[in-house]
Amino acid sequence: MSPQTFVIKVNPRAPQKRLILTAAEVLRRGGLVAFPTETVYGLGADALNADAVKQIFVAKGRPLDNPIIVHVASAADLDRLAENVPEEARRLVDRFWPGPLTLILRRSGLVPDGVTGGLDTVAVRMPRNSIALALIRALGRPVAAPSANLSGRTSGTTAGHVLQDFAGRIDMVLDGGPVPVGVESTVLDLSRRPPAILRPGAVTPEDLAPLLGRVVMGRGRGGSRRSPGTRYRHYSPRARVTLVEQNDQEAVAQLLHEVGRNKRKVAVVTAGHPFVGPGKAGLVVRQMPQDLGEYARRIFAVLREMDELAVDEIIIEKIEEKGIGVAIMDRLKRAAAR
Ligand code: TXA
Ligand code: MG
Repeated sequence: MSPQTFVIKVNPRAPQKRLILTAAEVLRRGGLVAFPTETVYGLGADALNADAVKQIFVAKGRPLDNPIIVHVASAADLDRLAENVPEEARRLVDRFWPGPLTLILRRSGLVPDGVTGGLDTVAVRMPRNSIALALIRALGRPVAAPSANLSGRTSGTTAGHVLQDFAGRIDMVLDGGPVPVGVESTVLDLSRRPPAILRPGAVTPEDLAPLLGRVVMGRGRGGSRRSPGTRYRHYSPRARVTLVEQNDQEAVAQLLHEVGRNKRKVAVVTAGHPFVGPGKAGLVVRQMPQDLGEYARRIFAVLREMDELAVDEIIIEKIEEKGIGVAIMDRLKRAAAR
C-alpha cells in the first residue's frame, strides 16, 4: 500500500526526461506506475521483478492465474522474452509495432512465472505511445502492465479513471491525457495453429489476414485455459447492462416501463443518433459518436460516468460489428453478461 499516489503530468509529444527518470526509478525500486498507452492506461511494474509483479495482482484484486502483458520498447526485445519466434511474428511486428497488437508466444526462461500465471507462453506488445516507450527505455527492462482498472471494471482511458480505482494504492500515475484508441489491444495467439484472436481490438482480422493467411476468432479447444482473462466477468459498470437493436423504440419503451415501476435510475446510450424514445424524468441519455473510432475512444468513460451517476440500468444500442466495432461489441457483450 502506498499512502500517496503522485500524479505527474507528462507531455505526450515530448515526454520530459526528468519526469520519466523519476517514474523509472519508482519501477526500479519495485513500485507501481500507471502510464498511458495508445489503447488504455496500463498499471506497470518491472516485468523481471517477481515481487513487483505480485503487487499488480494485489492492487487490482486480479486472480493470480490471469497472465499479464509484457511491454517492450523495441522489436529486438521479443527474442529475450520469447522462444521459437515464428517468421510470421516478425512480419506482424514489422507491420503493426509499435501498436495495439499483443502476440502470444512461447516464453523464455527470463520471464517470471508470476507474469504468465504459470502458462508456457508470454504475451508481448510494443505500445505506440511516447511516454510508455520512454518509461520502458529509461527502466532498461520490459514493463508488465495489465489495464489500469480494478479487476472486472472497465479499463481506464484517462488518468482520472486510474485515480478512481487506485488513488492511495499505487505509487504514481503518469498523466498523458486521454488515450487515442480507447479499447484494449488485439490479443493474437501465435503459439498454436492456426493463429487465433483471443481478444478483438483495433488491429482487425482483415488487417491480419494478408500477413497470416488463416486466422480464427476466439478461444477454440482448451480455450479458457489458454486465455484465462476471458473466464472472468469484465468491463462491468455497477449497473445492469442490456443491449438492444438500434432504433428499437419498442424494446426501449418496454425496458423503461419495467425499470420505471421499480423506481430505478436508467440510462440509454444510443449509437450515433439522437434518442427518440419516450421521455422520462431523470432519464440519462448519451448519444455516442457515429464514427466507430470516436465511439471506441469514449465508451469506457461513458460506462464509468454511469457509475458516478449511480445509474441502476443501462440500455445500450448495439453497433455494427465491422472494423473496431467488433472489439467494441465484444466489450459491450461482456458488460451485459450476468
Ligand atoms: O491494450 C492493452 O492490451 C492493455 C495495455 C495496458 O497494454 N493491456 C491490457 O492488459 O489490456 P489486461 O491484463 O487487462 O488484458 C490482457 C489479456 C488478458 O485477457 C489476459 O488473460 C491475456 O491478455 N493474456 C496475457 N497473457 C496471456 C498468455 N500468455 N496467454 C493467453 N492470454 C494471455
Ligand atoms: Mg484488463
